[in-house]
Amino acid sequence: MSFFLIDLCLVEYEMLRFPPSMLTAAAIFTAQFTLGMSREWNATYEKHSRYGKNQILKCSELKIFFHQKAAFGKLTGVHRKYNTSKYGNAARCEPIYFLLEAWF
Ligand SMILES: *[C@@H]1O[C@H](CO)[C@@H](O)[C@H](O)[C@H]1NC(C)=O
Ligand SMILES: *[C@@H]1O[C@H](CO)[C@@H](O)[C@H](O)[C@H]1NC(C)=O
Repeated sequence: MSFFLIDLCLVEYEMLRFPPSMLTAAAIFTAQFTLGMSREWNATYEKHSRYGKNQILKCSELKIFFHQKAAFGKLTGVHRKYNTSKYGNAARCEPIYFLLEAWF
């Protein structure tokens, strides 16, 4: 799921403003949230990523937005790739449909 979310960013110009470490941290957070594993960005994540939750929020929200529109439009290659068992059918997971800000 986190690889899927990161791949979705590769074709989005506006994601160039985020450093790779932040794209990764936000992908892990968003993936856990999407899979219903965890909604928190606790002290352990903060320590190892060196980002606080407020720092990754914007990046995470954009990933959710890209996930929501991944199957539509002109660039659906990433969705098609992750809509296969080889990649865990990650694209079939429902994107989260609310703004993360509501949870903090
Ligand atoms: C943070 O969450 C992870 C995964 O749920 C857990 O392994 C870790 O112990 C937690 N850390 C703290 C400080 O609660
Ligand atoms: C994802 O794959 C399934 C099974 O191959 C297919 O039925 C479905 O239409 C695909 N979804 C999209 C959005 O392409």
